[in-house]
Amino acid sequence: MSTASKEKKLWGGRFSGDTAPLVERYTCSVGFDSRLCAQDIDGSKAHASMLAEQGIITPSDCEAIHQGLEQIRAEIKAGTFVWRQDLEDVHMNIEHRLTELVGTPGQKLHTGRSRNDQVALDFRLFVAACLDEWADNLKALVDTLVQRAKEHQGVLLPGCTHFQPAQPVSLAQHLLAYAQMFRRDHDRVRDALKRVRVSPLGAAALAGTTHPLDPAQVAETLGLGGTFANSMDAVSDRDFVLEAVFCGSLVMMHLSRLCEEIIIWANPQFGFVRLPDAYSTGSSIMPQKKNPDVAELMRGKTGRVYGDLVGLLTLMKGLPLAYNRDMQEDKEPFLDTHDTVSPSLAIMAGMLSELGFNAERMRRALKAGFLNATELADYLAAKGVPFRQAHHITGAAVAFAEERGIGLEDMNIEDLRRFSADIGEDVFTVLDYDNAVARRHVPGGTGPDSVGAQISELASWLSEKV
Ligand code: ARG
Repeated sequence: MSTASKEKKLWGGRFSGDTAPLVERYTCSVGFDSRLCAQDIDGSKAHASMLAEQGIITPSDCEAIHQGLEQIRAEIKAGTFVWRQDLEDVHMNIEHRLTELVGTPGQKLHTGRSRNDQVALDFRLFVAACLDEWADNLKALVDTLVQRAKEHQGVLLPGCTHFQPAQPVSLAQHLLAYAQMFRRDHDRVRDALKRVRVSPLGAAALAGTTHPLDPAQVAETLGLGGTFANSMDAVSDRDFVLEAVFCGSLVMMHLSRLCEEIIIWANPQFGFVRLPDAYSTGSSIMPQKKNPDVAELMRGKTGRVYGDLVGLLTLMKGLPLAYNRDMQEDKEPFLDTHDTVSPSLAIMAGMLSELGFNAERMRRALKAGFLNATELADYLAAKGVPFRQAHHITGAAVAFAEERGIGLEDMNIEDLRRFSADIGEDVFTVLDYDNAVARRHVPGGTGPDSVGAQISELASWLSEKV
């Protein structure tokens, strides 16, 4: 980035002295807001078209502005554009270059506009593009989860409460729980987009403008859903960034929970999953190790996104109307969130699609954890034994089996009947793990018919356009 030049600032009419070099560096944002260059160009082109349409500038001025802005886009793409720190931000860098390229028409571009509504527009366009990307990535992740669930409908593992083995569930049911979380995240992002995609252009500095602008035309050109209702709100509202970062925080929280499971399942004492080579690393000292670094990092990065959210909330809490320069600090937290959320979603989808599930180890864990104990208690209750008594009887049978290192289903009928005369041969059907899962028909339950229904419902949601 260039720091040379001692020419007057774009806003320097009333100034005679230079900005202190340390202040120039302190106030400069082009190091990060240059990422909004495409949106700045799009917004300026739409503004110029509207100015021409309203007879505020001539069609040839507008043509020159459009051509100049497209040349700037090409220069940025080619890496030949010189970003200057003394020009503060993306807006003034581009406007300055435009005037260099096309002369007077470039100086007319800012008519009826302030950087306050300009930056709000650019940022809204940028956040909208990012949220579109998140929504696509979320759909792809749900798709992967549904695929993996489809393949593993018959695989059972211990479902936990308090992270203690509780009842058998199908692996599909477990994976589909995450599919539901990410589906809600998708819908939340799409809903937030309605409020992001509003054009603030025309609010100018804070009070609107005396030029006969047509804000609705700018919104339409940019494909936005509408225009601002109040100029002071338009230039000082950052709810759209906050909502986006909140959506990102929930996405990361869900990803982090899934990471936690993958880390635990990959521990050889569980052995439920085999990590794909492409998504794990080794140890520089312990040759036997295969570490779940990717999942760990994702769990760790969740914290920084929460930090972005809290930082933004704190940034905004004391600001009087309307624009305050504090708000320049809104870009980096969002950029950080975007740079975390978007690849995390893509990486999780890739890792899940290659994760190897060990059905055998999962089934062994069912037996060790007495996951059919509830079935025995329910069986006795169905035979008329009061549930509290059934619970005690089953507990005693579990202790008996545990002492012998066997499962309830491995006890012989005589031993079982020592605990209750109500137990008959039919108990072995009930103690069967597959039956325990299959009998849970309740909609949304882990039974195969419910899991099948969840899969087809999600598949039809996935085939919807947005
Ligand atoms: N770089 C500034 C920002 O991100 C642009 C708006 C500056 N407006 C102003 N009145 N100084 O907030």
